Amino acid sequence: MKISVKKNFKSLNGEIIVPPDKSLSHRAILFSSLASGKSVIKNFSSGKDPHSSLDVCRSLGVNFDIKDDRIVVNSSGKLAAPDKDLYCGNSGTTMRLMAGILSGQSFLSVLCGDESLSSRPMKRIIEPLKLMGADIKSDNNRAPLEIKGSHLFGVTYNSAISSAQVKSCVLLAGLHAEGETVFSEPYLSRNHTEIMLKNMGADIFSNGNTVHIKKSKLSPIEIEISGDISSTAYFIVAGLIVPNSQIVLKNVNINPTRTGILDVVKLMNGNIEILDQREVCSEPVADIKVSYSQNLRSCTISGDLIPKLIDEIPVISLLATQCDGQTIISDAQDLRNKESDRISSTVSELKKLGADIEETPDGMVINGKSFLSGGIIVDSYRDHRLAMTLYVAGLISQKEISIKDFEWVNISFPEFERLFENLKV
Ligand code: S3P
Repeated sequence: MKISVKKNFKSLNGEIIVPPDKSLSHRAILFSSLASGKSVIKNFSSGKDPHSSLDVCRSLGVNFDIKDDRIVVNSSGKLAAPDKDLYCGNSGTTMRLMAGILSGQSFLSVLCGDESLSSRPMKRIIEPLKLMGADIKSDNNRAPLEIKGSHLFGVTYNSAISSAQVKSCVLLAGLHAEGETVFSEPYLSRNHTEIMLKNMGADIFSNGNTVHIKKSKLSPIEIEISGDISSTAYFIVAGLIVPNSQIVLKNVNINPTRTGILDVVKLMNGNIEILDQREVCSEPVADIKVSYSQNLRSCTISGDLIPKLIDEIPVISLLATQCDGQTIISDAQDLRNKESDRISSTVSELKKLGADIEETPDGMVINGKSFLSGGIIVDSYRDHRLAMTLYVAGLISQKEISIKDFEWVNISFPEFERLFENLKV
């Protein structure tokens, strides 16, 4: 589906309730499936990716009673052997976290995915899982993954990359392994797994970038999913760059392992306020007020900031096109392994719109401020984050733009276009 975006409104004004966080939604489904008893998940994401996790757990014998965004999970705490391959769709989180869970079961299972997921690297999880005793077969470390459940042993693993998917995979295997599992990463990635597992009674603790876990049984939970800062990012950037805008974004999860975008907006001199900070299910939550900012300036983005804003880099690079000076993004080579090669796809499409932006091996260099001329068709590369970034670019382009395969936004954020329409005045 192709959509057109044009500047046929004066500004963006109003308030939105931010949709539920994708990472928390995945974890709530997977972890409550492992707990014996009844769990309740409130405000579950409508995105296709978290629903892939739900479908996979259903194929493993877990019962879900779904009413709108409220899910009652009934599990025996033991997964059953599936009678078909477990389809993870486009979702790297489903595949990588499930691989950790399935490695310690007593049956054979096969994880598969769509074309994009089947081309993404799985060595990062196969390697530590094999060290723990897992039996995994794959063709060249790509999905499908054939996993024969095994007796696992805890290991100490120093990951070369900072990745919450790799960390969560190893910790979930550690939940079923004999002895202690210790995982370290160069920079701290999102820590929702550690928080939720602890709340469910796991024997887990963190010390800096290192997490320790021992074999544990999980208790059921009642959890409310807070709003997704990665989805909020499109509204933050739009509010900053569309003249005369002011938007209030309600109920945003501001876990410090996710708030790199807020740090960048402050460095760029953007007008942003964090209001009414509170805690929901051990996660920090707030409302965010963002206003049009005329004097945005460039900054450098690298090192420990990268895992804190990894999914926001496409839309941050758009923001950088509206800053005076040169923004350099580096240490982000893993962006090439996302739903698309997000370095080359973002650079290619923003350049077509008129941005001064160049690829580097591990990031990009953006010179601002540029006028985006538009008047062309751009490609989402079937990548939800690029589709949404291009939509926001369309809001400030001189001429109308068309975005190819826009329906891929449904992977994380089906309400995206409707929420933007409501803000246009
Ligand atoms: C996620 C972790 C990140 C992120 C992805 C969701 C998660 O991936 O890009 O969208 O829920 O754990 P990596 O762990 O591969 O960086």
